Amino acid sequence: MNDLASIPAPASGRRPTARLPGDGSGVAEAARLIRAGACVAFPTETVYGLGADATDAEAVAGIFAAKARPRFNPLIAHLPGRTAAEGQGTFDDHALRLAEAFWPGPLTLVVPASGGTTVCDLARAGLPSVALRVPANPLARDLLAAIGRPVAAPSANRSGRVSPTRADHVLADLDGRIAAVLDGGDTPVGIESTVVACLGGPPRLLRPGGITREAIAAVLGTALAAPAQDDAARPIGPGLLASHYAPRAALRLDAEVVEPEEAVLLFGASRPVGIERACAVSNLSPRGDLTEAASRLFAALRDLDASGAATIAVCRIPADGLGEAILDRLGRAAAPR
Ligand code: TXA
Ligand code: MG
Repeated sequence: MNDLASIPAPASGRRPTARLPGDGSGVAEAARLIRAGACVAFPTETVYGLGADATDAEAVAGIFAAKARPRFNPLIAHLPGRTAAEGQGTFDDHALRLAEAFWPGPLTLVVPASGGTTVCDLARAGLPSVALRVPANPLARDLLAAIGRPVAAPSANRSGRVSPTRADHVLADLDGRIAAVLDGGDTPVGIESTVVACLGGPPRLLRPGGITREAIAAVLGTALAAPAQDDAARPIGPGLLASHYAPRAALRLDAEVVEPEEAVLLFGASRPVGIERACAVSNLSPRGDLTEAASRLFAALRDLDASGAATIAVCRIPADGLGEAILDRLGRAAAPR
């Protein structure tokens, strides 16, 4: 699926990517670049996004080229506040309740696009719906307010690779392929937003993420439905392809025994048999906290990958709360490629 070599680099060539400071001057320069049609990576509370003007199809095409994304998948449009977001789509009662409870924050709502939506067809992959998100990161909100248009942004990594949670991760994948990265330090949530479709009928969970299923059910007063097999809104984004979020090393889940020369990803206090044989070890949360584990997940995968191990053995992680999103990403990273 990842035929990276066949996708050309952006026509802008390979000038080094500027690292912009996480202050007013950096925000102003990032806003200027995006308004001029360039791609700029910026921090959200979840992961770094690769932003472009969502109203400009040519700018959005630049995202796919920079990421070497093999297909045109629908992207999330980011807005600085609820009023701006609600102008782009039609919100039913469920969507309004979720927006009220979780925006700004790591929730994406897929709703019918409004007649007046300015998000271009390419960013919506030609769908009648639109994915909207109001991020909580203050730099992101300042940037979006300064741009004054919706900003399309997938995670700022090469297609199929691990999502970036710091500016160095963005540069490791995209240096020379994008105009700039706005450096806001580490992203606190560390895992992408939860994607919920509100398209009439019961809201459906399209992707687990930074807001737990339980928290959403508490607001709705009812459990989220799963996407149906024949669902017209069935997600087609790469975040939902089986093999995604993949480090170079193979992953082995629920490992109870470590084989020689494997790298090991731990959670909590339990230790697999043979851990002394590991060539590298990282613990997502020694105190067994799933929020901390989510925030460290992608950086830990990058670190263990850098050890050169052929396989990363992943110890058991609980499936409740944010564990659902963590296990979703690990399962995709472990899928055959
Ligand atoms: O936390 C996040 O969500 C990050 C930051 C940068 O905001 N963004 C992100 O974007 O993870 P991306 O492109 O990797 O994932 C977008 C997800 C995909 O699974 C895609 O299929 C889904 O949203 N999506 C977007 N528009 C959709 C639509 N109209 N219908 C169904 N799914 C949609
Ligand atoms: Mg992604």
